[in-house]
Amino acid sequence: MSNASSSAEGGAMGQATAKRGLWSSRLAFILAATGSAVGLGNIWKFPYITGENGGGAFVLVYLLCIAAVGLPIMMAEVLVGRRGGHSPVNSMRAIASQEGLKPAWRWVAAVGVLAGFLILSFYSVIGGWAISYVGTAATGQLAGQSAESIGAIFSGLLGDPMKLLLWHTLFMALVMVVVARGVRSGLERAVSILMPALFVLLLIVVGYAMTTGHFGQAVAFLFQPDFSKLTTSGVLVALGHAFFTLSLGMGVMMAYGSYLPKNISIAKTSVTVSIMDTAVALLAGLAIFPIVFANGLEPGAGPGLIFQTLPLAFGQMPMGSLFGTLFFVLLIFAAWTSGISLLEPIVEWLEEQKGMNRTVSTVGAGIVCWLLGVASVLSLNLWSDVTPLGMFTMFEGKTIFDLLDFLTANILLPLGGLLVAVFVGWTMSRKALESELDMSPGTFSIWYRVLRYFTPVAVAVVFVYNLV
Ligand code: PFF
Repeated sequence: MSNASSSAEGGAMGQATAKRGLWSSRLAFILAATGSAVGLGNIWKFPYITGENGGGAFVLVYLLCIAAVGLPIMMAEVLVGRRGGHSPVNSMRAIASQEGLKPAWRWVAAVGVLAGFLILSFYSVIGGWAISYVGTAATGQLAGQSAESIGAIFSGLLGDPMKLLLWHTLFMALVMVVVARGVRSGLERAVSILMPALFVLLLIVVGYAMTTGHFGQAVAFLFQPDFSKLTTSGVLVALGHAFFTLSLGMGVMMAYGSYLPKNISIAKTSVTVSIMDTAVALLAGLAIFPIVFANGLEPGAGPGLIFQTLPLAFGQMPMGSLFGTLFFVLLIFAAWTSGISLLEPIVEWLEEQKGMNRTVSTVGAGIVCWLLGVASVLSLNLWSDVTPLGMFTMFEGKTIFDLLDFLTANILLPLGGLLVAVFVGWTMSRKALESELDMSPGTFSIWYRVLRYFTPVAVAVVFVYNLV
């Protein structure tokens, strides 16, 4: 634990920082930020959207989006968090006042915090599916099953509100326990065990995948770009996913950045986190596609890919119950560390703003989020024909679960990212940015230009596309 006062800039802000504690090392921040970034987005979503969008060319565009849009915005978010030294909302407010801007800028972070909160409500439900599949795989229920009965297991789960509720509750409780214990004893310790375990477990599944005889086909699928398969919407999906997978636009990186000591390089750290996140997504692809091809499954099977087709593969492979169990344990770890980061910003804000202690704010926010998750659970079964905003064409046929997903991923998230890019790129003084980033002048000016010109335009395109 470094001396908290070393990062304090004095006055009230300094006292607040001193009370909050800092990451004990650069590694601890990297672990936590990677823990947030790596989640269902990498292991569940990346493979299925890659499958749907034809593989190689999509992967290439996704990698470009990470480097040219995601990374610059991640640096901007961490910078705002560290300079502000508070929860996202108050960091934005503090910086706006330092820069002589309107305090209304804090609403940018508020949008982000709200988005994270909404995402957690349904993220927890999907995390719950993973918990449920650990039991299914461990008890050997997947062994030798046909595609129909594997499909029936999945729809049976979705159709059983009590089971979904139980697993959703358990997932949320896991998240709350870690967040309640605070950044030092809770988050840091949890991620420093979970992240390395995740890498090892993923490598084990990739190791199995290499023995299927279809590894080469999977490598070609992922890394040989065939641009005839790339559509405009594929490009936009890749860009949007770069945001989701790096946990951007939601105040998460700001919240974590606020615990980052001053002497640590924001650029190097952000690059490391982005590389690790990308590595996990690609490893997940290398783990999943050989199994998909070996079993003649459909790469473009959609969101059900891992829950409906992988269990089939696990049911057929030798030691499938073991591999299946390991895989879903891995998925829970990944989702857990992301879930923690989704709850953290709102808890941080309640602590500061409302003077609540950490346990009370965690329990309060967690329960409200859990309740919202109950609505998502019900919308998968009993309320499956409830479409609250169905009168608007844009939301036609969307259940509560679909609405939350759509609202966060397609509206709040790009909006949050766009506004952060504008805030940092266009309203903060260049001097403040230079002193905070401490990069060579050449690299700084590349980052600055990308953030000011390229990023906002690229994000605006996704945003408008999704609205239209
Ligand atoms: N990045 C996480 C994933 O890929 O699963 C999801 C996520 C976590 C999104 C935290 C946003 C966030 F703030």
